[in-house]
Amino acid sequence: MDIKGKVVIVTGASSGIGEAAAREFGREGATVVLAARRVDKLQALAQEVNAMNTGAQTLVMQADLSKLEDIQSMIAQTLERFGRIDVLVNNAGFGRLDWLENLDPIKDIQAQMDVNIMGVIQTTRQVLPIMMKQRAGSIINMCSMAGLVGTPTYSIYAATKHAVHGFSEALRREVKPWGIDVSLIYPGGVVTEFTQHAGIKRKTNAKTPKFMLLTAEQVGAAVVRLVRHPRRMLVIPWLWNVTVLMNKLFPGLVDYTTIKRFTIPERAEELNIK
Ligand SMILES: NC(=O)c1ccc[n+]([C@@H]2O[C@H](COP(=O)([O-])OP(=O)(O)OC[C@H]3O[C@@H](n4cnc5c(N)ncnc54)[C@H](OP(=O)(O)O)[C@@H]3O)[C@@H](O)[C@H]2O)c1
Repeated sequence: MDIKGKVVIVTGASSGIGEAAAREFGREGATVVLAARRVDKLQALAQEVNAMNTGAQTLVMQADLSKLEDIQSMIAQTLERFGRIDVLVNNAGFGRLDWLENLDPIKDIQAQMDVNIMGVIQTTRQVLPIMMKQRAGSIINMCSMAGLVGTPTYSIYAATKHAVHGFSEALRREVKPWGIDVSLIYPGGVVTEFTQHAGIKRKTNAKTPKFMLLTAEQVGAAVVRLVRHPRRMLVIPWLWNVTVLMNKLFPGLVDYTTIKRFTIPERAEELNIK
């Protein structure tokens, strides 16, 4: 798909991966709909994209993706202004990473479900009839390594991303005959505001090794590439595929090492282990 002039909706465009992807679409001369709650950030990005002189157009859309009425309004306004929707990047999302019993039932658990799962489903549901009428379209869903491998303190986040995985796999098989591609991207750790919102509290210094960390720009560029070359699954960095394979082939071994190297050291105090 030639990206120039295409109408692209990027959710969660106010920071991180969504912002980087939207900027990249702007560089390619696409018409970009920038959606998120922080409208000041979206406006600043829109100005930057408009100044690129690539022919890119922008539409700033303040939307809370956990609210159906905001999603409906975003799609209606996009259609009214541009008459079509070629690409949907379902990127908005967040994680609250803690032991399950510490998560707030509403602010942490329900809120993640509402944005990460329902936001993706409802936005796609609204866009689909338009793409079916066009008999063309590209949907890119932001998954995560957590959508393939469950790790302690990621229980709800992993549940939401596993849901995105299952939803997208089924949808891909529903819509392909209409000329619509559904791609899934599974980044490992990406340096964005994500960690600031995640509320991570570690007692040990367990974290993703630096050489495995990605920038938002790397993931944003990968999102744009998926429009040109749709993929069922894109795991980045590639090396995470080894973990995915280990988890599939030897789940008992992954349980053992994760519990021994992460869960027990992190919870040693509560477990009364000296
Ligand atoms: N960073 C990582 O390590 C990593 C790894 C794998 C996958 N991911 C996924 O990548 C996506 C983007 O995350 P990021 O790393 O770029 O984090 P980020 O910088 O915190 O960006 C999250 C984006 O989602 C938007 N968002 C959150 N709640 C929203 C809501 N209720 N309505 C509308 N927009 C909402 C935020 O905008 P507002 O706050 O302005 O609404 C923001 O633009 C997420 O789906 C995340 O799960 C991240």
